[in-house]
Amino acid sequence: MDRVLSGMQASGKLHIGNLVGALQNWVRLQERYDCYYFVADWHALTTGYASPQAISESAEDLLVNFLAAGLDPGKCTIFVQSGIPEHAELHLLLSMITPLGWLERVPTYKEKIQELKERDLSTYGFLGYPLLQTADIIIYRARYVPVGIDQVPHLEISREIARRFNFLYREVFPEPEALLTEFPKVPGVDGRKMSKSYDNAIYLSDPPETVEQKLRTMMTDPARKRKTDAGNPEVSPVFQLHKIFSSKEEQEYVAHGCRTAGIGCIECKKVLIKNIFRVMEPLWAKRKELRDNPDTLRDIVKTGTEKAARVARETMELARDAMGLGKF
Ligand code: TRP
Repeated sequence: MDRVLSGMQASGKLHIGNLVGALQNWVRLQERYDCYYFVADWHALTTGYASPQAISESAEDLLVNFLAAGLDPGKCTIFVQSGIPEHAELHLLLSMITPLGWLERVPTYKEKIQELKERDLSTYGFLGYPLLQTADIIIYRARYVPVGIDQVPHLEISREIARRFNFLYREVFPEPEALLTEFPKVPGVDGRKMSKSYDNAIYLSDPPETVEQKLRTMMTDPARKRKTDAGNPEVSPVFQLHKIFSSKEEQEYVAHGCRTAGIGCIECKKVLIKNIFRVMEPLWAKRKELRDNPDTLRDIVKTGTEKAARVARETMELARDAMGLGKF
C-alpha cells in the first residue's frame, strides 16, 4: 500500500474550513492508503517561538479534532512531530546540502515575513521551514502528500531536495507528490475567507450554542436590509456555506426564497444551522467521549509515535549509511 503523509501546524484551533478542506479528505484517504498524520509543533515554533504555551494547547486541539473528525487509529498512524527526534536529525543532514537560494526563493518565505511584520522572523529556523517539512515527508518515504494549493511550492522544494540527496549519495528517498485537495474557499461569518486571524471562524471546539449564535448573526447580502427586499444569494456568504453543507434542493429553495423575498434570512440560516449541526454532532459526541476518557488520547498518540518512529529510524539508518555516517 502506498504511503501517504500529511501534517498540520499547531498554531491555533481548527475550524470548519479545515474540516471540509483537509480533515474530511484525510479521513477518506485512510481507507485506501497507509496514512501517517501528525501535528507539526516544531513548525509552529518557527513563527510562534515566543509563546510556546499556545502551541501545546493548539496541539491538543488538533489531536482531539483529528479523532473527532473520524481519523481511526486502527487505520492510520497519528503522532506529534516533536515525539520523533529523527525528523530533526534528517533536517540537519539535509541542511548541509540545501542551497540557501532555494529556501530564500520559496514564495511563502517573503509573504509570511510581510504578513507577520510585528514578529522577528529573521531566524535560521524560519528560513528552514520548508526544509523541516521536507524531512517530515521523506523520512517516511511517503509517496503522496495531501495538501492545499498553498503548499505546492513546499512540495516542489521537497522533491528537489530528495533528488539532490539521491544524486549526491545514493537513492534513498522517493520524490513525494502533492495530492491536491481542491475545495471552494470557505467564508467566515464576516464574508472574508475563514481564518483564525480574522476572528470570523466557526471552530470545531465551539459548543452548539456558539455555532448557532455565530451563524444567526452571520453576514448576508448587505443590500437586503428588510425581509421584503429581494436579495442576491451569489453575494451572500451564507449561501456559499449552503453550497458546501446543504442539498441541491435546499440550495434551490433558499436561493429562490432570497431572490423573491419569499423567505427571510433567519429562515435561510435555519436550514444551514440544521445541516452544519448534522456534520458537527458526531464531532461533539466524540469530543465528549475523549474528555470523559483522558487516557485515550495519550494512548493513541503513544502507539502512533512508536509505529512512526520505527519507520523513521529505519530511514535514518539508510540515510546515515548513504552518507558514510554511523560506522563507529
Ligand atoms: N506546512 C503545513 C501547514 O501549513 C504543515 C506541515 C508540516 C506539513 N510538515 C508537513 C504538511 C508535511 C504536509 C507534509 O499546515
